[in-house]
Amino acid sequence: MEFLLKARLALIFSIIAHVSLLAFASPPELQIVNAEKRIDLNSQIVKVFLTLKVENTGTSPASDILLAFPPTEIDHLSLIKAAIATRKKKKKSYLPLDVKQTEKLDAPNGAKIFSISLLDPLSPGATATFEVLYISTHTLKPFPEEISQSESQLVYYHDSAYVLSPYHIKQQSTFIKTPSTKVESFTKVEPTNRVSKEIRYGPYEDRPPYSFSPILLHFENNHPFAVVEELVREVEISHWGSIQITEHYKLAHAGARHKGVFSRVEYQSKPSISGVSSFRHLLARLPPKVHSVYYRDEIGNISSSHLRTGILKSELEFEPRYPLFGGWKATFVIGYGLPLQDFLFESPDGRRYLNFTFGCPLAETVVDKLTLKVVLPEGSTGPSAVVPFQVEQHLEKKYSYLDVVGRTVVVLEKKNLVPEHNSAFQVYYSFNPIFMLAEPLMLVSAFFFFFVACIAYLHIDLSISKMQ
Ligand SMILES: *[C@@H]1O[C@H](CO)[C@@H](O)[C@H](O)[C@H]1NC(C)=O
Ligand SMILES: *[C@@H]1O[C@H](CO)[C@@H](O)[C@H](O)[C@H]1NC(C)=O
Repeated sequence: MEFLLKARLALIFSIIAHVSLLAFASPPELQIVNAEKRIDLNSQIVKVFLTLKVENTGTSPASDILLAFPPTEIDHLSLIKAAIATRKKKKKSYLPLDVKQTEKLDAPNGAKIFSISLLDPLSPGATATFEVLYISTHTLKPFPEEISQSESQLVYYHDSAYVLSPYHIKQQSTFIKTPSTKVESFTKVEPTNRVSKEIRYGPYEDRPPYSFSPILLHFENNHPFAVVEELVREVEISHWGSIQITEHYKLAHAGARHKGVFSRVEYQSKPSISGVSSFRHLLARLPPKVHSVYYRDEIGNISSSHLRTGILKSELEFEPRYPLFGGWKATFVIGYGLPLQDFLFESPDGRRYLNFTFGCPLAETVVDKLTLKVVLPEGSTGPSAVVPFQVEQHLEKKYSYLDVVGRTVVVLEKKNLVPEHNSAFQVYYSFNPIFMLAEPLMLVSAFFFFFVACIAYLHIDLSISKMQ
């Protein structure tokens, strides 16, 4: 009994010792000399640009800088990027840095912490300037939630007048850009100024770590709230010279729900005031040299599309069968072909790889869920995908006609995407060229047997007619 108690006491003491060690291992002391936060509320996608001038006031070098987010913002966060400003020969440039979410449990009010890893530690007494961009979706809440065809759309936006940070901030300001001058209301945290389409909070001085002061904006935003709830893109590689892409879209208008009846007459005669938050034109940015483009929905082909091809890119402009109002949905398919040599390459180790664009080709849309399937040629082995951000991945098999062993499909899945995710990714695989002969051989042998059968038939037929 006594032994057990001693053991327990020893355990408790060792825990206390560890905790205090953690607390006293003098973490690098940082402070933010100047913080500037610029929030862009022009579209449905909220972009926040942070400029932080950080000073190391401690005695040990700092190898990372921490960023804090309110827990409610995390689910909406789609992308976060950081860079350090460097000066080389008086030219300012930015070096991208790695940002990762870290588990830090002692942050007040459940704040979530991200850590920016520095390439070179910030030495005591030194300062450095960091640029952070983070993008969130579904953060603008329509209010009223339902509007009629003649009303314009108003939305709410929540944030803090102070930059949420684990560090003391000496001086800071927050600037918010609204799409129009129509701002119904906004919280004031003195000093607060509004000039035209911009609201400025601050400057504020000497705010302790984790200072937070909630603000609420209510303003007009008639930007199309085009959300692809689900997008399935299939990229099929054929070594016979082309890549075939098929994209299945489930598109929705995620703004204030439409109320009452839809009047097409009113919509067409007063386009500037009727259905201002609705949309009907969609734009897909496709690679150059795109060919065999089609656009159809469940009813059939839709001809109301225009394709402009260029040297650097092509643009497909199209319209669903009806304009989309809040809460309305449209389902459609876009398909196109691309020349193989623009996207398929050989790597130095002899493997082949597809270099293609991730994300969604539709301009200014949010994608709730993307499934990207890369169908490799029959006989490909050992596929591996390289994507610049975290994605879920697995393999599938697909059989099409004339396939003997089936095709390997690399499936990549990601949630909550914005146009900034449209960056290059690669799928590497090994391929034995003998498989290229499989299909033609099957065709040739099929034809061969067909001809033999025909000749045999004709021969028999002729010989019968001769006999008569
Ligand atoms: C739809 O368009 C595609 C490509 O232009 C064409 O191959 C197909 O036959 C068309 N289908 C119908 C039903 O018109
Ligand atoms: C993939 O293509 C992009 C341009 O679209 C290019 O910048 C990049 O270097 C390519 N990556 C590889 C590994 O070939």
